[in-house]
Order: sequence, then structure tokens, then C-alpha cells
Amino acid sequence: MCGIVGYVGSGDTLLVLLEALEKLEYRGYDSSGVALIEDGKLFIEKKPGKIRELIKSLWGKKTSAKAGIGHTRWATHGQVCELNAHPHSDSKGEFAVVHNGIIENYRHLKEQLLAKGIEYRSQTDSEAIAHLIALNYKGDLLEATHKVTKMLEGAFAFAVLSTHEPERIVAFRRSSPLVVGLGEGENFLASDIPALLPFTRRVVPLSEGELVDLRPDGVSIYAEDLSPITREVMYVQWDVISAEKGGFKHFMLKEINEQPRVVSETIRGLISRESELPNLADFRRVIFVACGTSLHSAMIAKHWLSRFQKIPSEVYHASELRYSDEPISSQDLVIAISQSGETADTRFAALSAKERGATLLSIVNVVGSALDRESDFSLYTHAGPEIGVAATKTFIAQLSALYYLSTYNDQKLRQKLSLIPALIEEVLTLSERIKALSPELSSTKSALYIGRYLNYPIALEGALKLKEISYIHAEGLPAGEMKHGPIALIDEKTPVFAIAVQDRVYEKMLSNAEEVLARRGKLISVGFKGDEKLQSLSKYAIEIPKTDEYLTPFITIIPLQLLAYFIADHLGLDVDQPRNLAKTVTVE
Ligand code: G6P
Repeated sequence: MCGIVGYVGSGDTLLVLLEALEKLEYRGYDSSGVALIEDGKLFIEKKPGKIRELIKSLWGKKTSAKAGIGHTRWATHGQVCELNAHPHSDSKGEFAVVHNGIIENYRHLKEQLLAKGIEYRSQTDSEAIAHLIALNYKGDLLEATHKVTKMLEGAFAFAVLSTHEPERIVAFRRSSPLVVGLGEGENFLASDIPALLPFTRRVVPLSEGELVDLRPDGVSIYAEDLSPITREVMYVQWDVISAEKGGFKHFMLKEINEQPRVVSETIRGLISRESELPNLADFRRVIFVACGTSLHSAMIAKHWLSRFQKIPSEVYHASELRYSDEPISSQDLVIAISQSGETADTRFAALSAKERGATLLSIVNVVGSALDRESDFSLYTHAGPEIGVAATKTFIAQLSALYYLSTYNDQKLRQKLSLIPALIEEVLTLSERIKALSPELSSTKSALYIGRYLNYPIALEGALKLKEISYIHAEGLPAGEMKHGPIALIDEKTPVFAIAVQDRVYEKMLSNAEEVLARRGKLISVGFKGDEKLQSLSKYAIEIPKTDEYLTPFITIIPLQLLAYFIADHLGLDVDQPRNLAKTVTVE
């Protein structure tokens, strides 16, 4: 998964490309590059490493180019090196291509190219596109690109530049995101909206199978059969500043602190779309599909649906549903949860359920994302752009949307949501105390997180946060399962984070805490304020405000997010861009 940008116009092409690329770095950041048409020739610069390496190497460069494309890479085919970085070009250096996604039939295409005597330089699938466009170019870039899209299989988006037409970019999307930004005498292209915000707020997300022809004075969109399409222009209200760090050391910390506001904004957004939602009572059951953090919010929502609506539900790892034999019918409502709305596993699982007859409701943060457009109904989480790779505020926003949905026929229960912002604010005041634990905990090799019922998914989410950004092994467990194996891991060096609020499983959690102590484990608890019993068992007790049992996940997660953040920061790690991960995974 990668990020693509493009620019046509008489502004500073290079500056626009680099600034947009920086905003896309969260999509992948193992190498980056740009291509420009300068005096009728192709100029390409690419560098392994983060985008600052590319910026360094282009420092002081002036260009008169009126069109350029750029790319930030997260490797799928071929190791990380300059040769495999994008843009890729044809043998004569007349066409340059940036690509996101996977060309599934590239081996076959490569063999055909090699048989024609074409030298294939990289180990990527992307290079094939540049050669194929060169072979099919008969004086019109749009026509050549269109022809090549018919030869490619897989899920991808790409943009092409040619020395023959120095003020034109043609791009195409199939299952990978691509958004056009409209300017005055200039136009833009990017894999997502935040990358366009420094330049324009007028955007058009491309739909499946669409081609776009960008020139400085206009943009034309075409369907797969090359028939012209008229699309409505979306005006983006997001604040550019909200995509910046706002005084915090890292985006992740800023995003953790934004959570009270995110709950209020999400609720406000939901109220305005109330009438557009499906009626849950019309369905026999709900099937949740999601990945990573979004999956954990689904696991919590399952309990809410059982409790408030008595509707049976399943929670599927998205990657497991698509190839399963799960009987799905028109009586099922599939709820796909995804921050980005672009996660391939989630989209493909949701689409396969839709094909089997289900109604598809998506809960996404990115309006206009693929999943949003592919769904019968959409709910938006209004968390604003999330830049830290580890999801925090979008998790809370998802919980808000899911709670709202699960309480659709009970205003009293629904109104409880209005308590959440103040409760989260209160937990955030514990930041310094939690930070103080980080030096000791950062030498940990392995940690366990235990919880039950609504707080078992929180144990999973707490463990996920720690491993994602601190690279410390962590496992989330239903506390009752500990005795069936994982208890063997406990010794005096192993911190065990126990979420033990005074809910229906509280006494059981206390017994599990005792089991940890009996094995000399180091218990760190998250429990209600003033819970002396729990405190007496804990080496460190994090006290959160008391609230109704079914609201607890909104606040038990906050100290665990903060802990993961402070531990990773104490270790001096790159919190916002952890190794090997990407914010949005658009490959299966
Ligand atoms: C990636 C990210 C995770 C995220 C998951 C699902 O793996 O690293 O943080 O939870 O994708 O993303 P989504 O955008 O579908 O919620």
C-alpha cells in the first residue's frame, strides 16, 4: 500500500508534490519519489527511507515543470531500494507511473514484456504499467491508459505522465483510493483528501473503474468504457490545522487528547443522519466485519446489540469472512467498520457478503471512501483525519457510533453518551501519573492484558496499542482463559494489566488478579476510583471515574492508550510511524 500524488498547473510543481507526499506518509514510508516533465524530458528522483530523504536530495532544485507525479511506498513486491521505489518509467524514459495496490497478473505481463525484448529493471509489479503504456501509446495518453487498464488484474490505482504531453496526467482506480482536487488553473490528485487540503477544499473522489484526465485548465472523468461522467464536487470542511500536531509532541498524543471532542462531534453528525439509517429490527442478525482496532469496537458492539436489542450477531475478522462458507442472506445486516474505508480485507469481505444478499452498512471516518460508496447505508465517525498509525480517536468515535446505533429505540440509554466527553476528560488528567510508570514498564519484554465481557476487547485493544508502537510483545486475553494456558507465562517480570471495573464480572476479575499475584506477577489495574480491594492487589492502580457498566469501554481504554504512548516515547521510538505498519492497508 502506497500513496500517490499528482499536480498539473503553473505553480511550484515540486513543492506541491513534496508537501502532498508528506501528508500521505502514513500510508507507507519505506521509500518515495517524484517524476516531472522538464523541457520535454522526464526527470525522476527517488530515495529509500522517509520522505525527508527525498526532500533532502531535492533541496534547492528549481523546476519549470507543469506536471508531476509523486509516490510514497509501502513495499508489496520487491525489497525496499531505490530501484523498486516509484515512479517507474518505460525503457525510453517517455512515460512515468506511480502505482498503489497489486497487479495480480504482473508475472504473466512481465514475461510478455521480456519476450518482446524489453528490459525490466525493478522487482515490482508497477513497472509493467509504464512499459505497457509506452507500447500502446498512439498519441493520446488517455487512450493508451484506458487500453492498458483492460490488461491489468487486481486492486490498484495509478497515475501516468508523458513527455509527449507535458501538461497532462491520466490516472485510473480499481479498488484503491484516488481523489481529484480542483484548483484555479491547476489541478491535483492524491490517494486521500488530507493530502489535498493544503491546496484546495473542492474534491472529487473517483469511483470504481474510473479514469481521470487532468490538465491545468480542467478535469475530465470517464467510466471504464470511456463514456464521460459528470460528478458532483465535494466541499471539504476539515480544518488543515486539525491535521497538524497542534502543540503535542506526536499526532498520537494529540489524537488521544481529542477524544472528548470527537465523541460530541460524532454524536452531532449521527443525529443529523438519523432518518437515513436502516431499522435493525428488520434483520435476523448482524454480522460485523473489521480489522485491527475497528474489530475491537465491533466486539464491544456485539454485547451492546445483545443487551439493548436482543439481536444475535457475529464478529468476523474481515480477512476470514470473504473465504468462509458462512451462510449469509438478505435477512442479514453486515456492519463493516473501518476508519479509512479503504482497508482491502474489510471492503472485500463486506462486498462478498453483499453479493450473498446481505444489506451493507458501513461505519467509516473518511467520507467518500470506497467502502462508504459501496455501502447501502453509511454512518460517519467525524473524528477528523487521524494521522498516528495507531488508531485512538477513531476507536472512540466508532464506539460512539455503535452505541448510538445499538440504542436506537431508547432515548434514555442514548443520552448517556453525553456523559462520555467529561468522563474521558477526567481520565486524561491522569496523563502525568501514567507517564511516570513508563520508565519502569519500558524494559518489559512481554505483557498480558486481561479483561472480561465488555472489557475483554479493551484488553485486546490495549495490547494492540503496546505492540504496534513499542514493539513489546503483548497479549490480550479473556481473563477466564488465563488458567487454560497463558498463566504459564506469568513471573515477577511480566506486567499484567487487568481491567477490573465494578461490573457483572468484577468478582471474577478479582479472582483472576489473585491468580496473577499468586504467581508473583506484577499487577497494574484499571478500576473505579476508591476501589480499595482492587488497589490492595495492584502494584499500580489506575483509578478512573465510576460509570455504568456498559459505558466503561469508552474510558477504560484511555489509560491503556496513554501507557502505550508514553512507553514508546520513553523508548525513543517513532510513535506516529511505527516500523512495518501502515495506516491504511489497501492490499489483502
Ligand atoms: C491497519 C492499521 C490499524 C487499523 C487497521 C484497520 O492495520 O495499522 O491501526 O486498525 O488497519 O484499519 P481501518 O481503516 O479499516 O479501520
